Amino acid sequence: MNSRGINKNFTDARVDALAVVVFKDDNTKKGLLGELDKLTGGGISSVLASEEFKGESGETYMLRYKADKGKAGRILLVGGGDQEKYKSAEAAACAGAAARKIRDYNLKKFAFAPRFGGDAVEAAAAATQGAITSQFELDKYKTKDKNEKSVDAITIFVDGAKPAELKNGIEKGTAIGESMNFTRDLANEPPNILTPTEMANRAKKMAKEVGLTCEVLTEAQMKKMGMNSLLSVSLGSEQPAKLIFLKYTPKKSTAKKGDLLALVGKGVMFDTGGISLKPGEGMDAMKYDMSGGATVVGAMRAIALLKPSVPVIGVVGCVENMPDGKASRPSDVVTAMNGKTVEILNTDAEGRLVLADAVHYAEKKGANQIIDLATLTGAVIIALGNRNTGIMGNDQDLVDRVIETGKEVGEGFWQLPLEGYESEVKSDIADVKNIGTKRRAGTIAGGLFIQEFIDKAKWAHLDIAGTAWADSPKPHQAKGPTGVAIRTLVRLVENSQ
Ligand code: BES
Ligand code: MN
Ligand code: ZN
Repeated sequence: MNSRGINKNFTDARVDALAVVVFKDDNTKKGLLGELDKLTGGGISSVLASEEFKGESGETYMLRYKADKGKAGRILLVGGGDQEKYKSAEAAACAGAAARKIRDYNLKKFAFAPRFGGDAVEAAAAATQGAITSQFELDKYKTKDKNEKSVDAITIFVDGAKPAELKNGIEKGTAIGESMNFTRDLANEPPNILTPTEMANRAKKMAKEVGLTCEVLTEAQMKKMGMNSLLSVSLGSEQPAKLIFLKYTPKKSTAKKGDLLALVGKGVMFDTGGISLKPGEGMDAMKYDMSGGATVVGAMRAIALLKPSVPVIGVVGCVENMPDGKASRPSDVVTAMNGKTVEILNTDAEGRLVLADAVHYAEKKGANQIIDLATLTGAVIIALGNRNTGIMGNDQDLVDRVIETGKEVGEGFWQLPLEGYESEVKSDIADVKNIGTKRRAGTIAGGLFIQEFIDKAKWAHLDIAGTAWADSPKPHQAKGPTGVAIRTLVRLVENSQ
């Protein structure tokens, strides 16, 4: 989708429709809405009076009016909800809802007024990102009944904005939106196609395109380094494990000496549970078990495009968890790269086995701050549902920064404790065991296990099992992978410049 910005004469835009955000209890007598109401001969006030459209978030309403030749002739009202709660995430969602509606009408070009009171760069970035992510669909592999409609262009109107602000915002929003879709495309791929090798190849190709360093470790290299915890997960698979390492280096760094952030992702390309086999029902969703890894790859892509002045590395452990004669069994003991011994009591608690070596590798590569992302536990869905990502860590300041940054971009993180639960992962025969005791505090046990493999780094663990994909579509977003946490991670990096 093509994006451009304008700072005046919204109603004159040469487009198929003008889309405007309307809040609950909005004033149709004043400002832009007043102007549009006049243009439609009071059409907007009358729609609001009829209560067919109330300005609730997610609502849309198409109005026709008599326009001069070449001008829109259509106004799409887009519900913005409560004006006091309207932030950049809501503006992005409105742009997305508008773009999806415009697409349904088979229109090509629209102008969008986010009516975002704040910063012009932020307004343009949010609208651009929302419009881009709204167009993602799951139908890549359909040969028939594909969604052939597409929106070609969005014109973003921010009253009085400087052209440079609009340009900057659109560039940002494009980088983030397209990177989110890149992540979602990876997450959506079937596991017979997106093997660990293919995931590594796509990361390499992306890295080349955007100018990141990329190295891929083979099984032999990992074996040499002692990554037996990660490797144990893919013993049952025909597909060799890969470890993806990405590095962004700024031209001129403003980072404090020794400061290096690592993003580390769980890349379980498919999780059958291994010998601790999962039930068949719903197992197909385990193609999404590489969402954490896909998020790291997508976030690194966005970072490479936005060029912040601080370095960032990305590490993704890619494996397939399969049952087989060679697979690990419950009660096996392996030695991880950091020297700790692990009793594998359940081969379905495999994500933490992958992350154990991946976070250690990140620290070896110089990271003193680590954020890992993983679809780690079903328990986090029981605890938090699909609204919030679970967050845990060993450094309250880092955890707080993630939570606060999430609020800035409209992504929810909710902290669970680790302190006081340490005994949950103590093993009778080895240093640690890979599950907690019985089914209690399952998400915390996962976090505690990973913590055992952090040496000195400040660390936060994001359990995205409940937020990485959506089971139903939203007005602004298809069902399926969400690209969750990318906006937060990118903003966190930007804020640390
Ligand atoms: N990938 C799953 C977690 C998961 C479940 C993610 C549902 C998304 C939706 C993970 O590898 C797993 O199987 N975890 C087990 C841990 C248990 C064996 C301690 C779980 O949550 O049941
Ligand atoms: Mn599992
Ligand atoms: Zn898993």
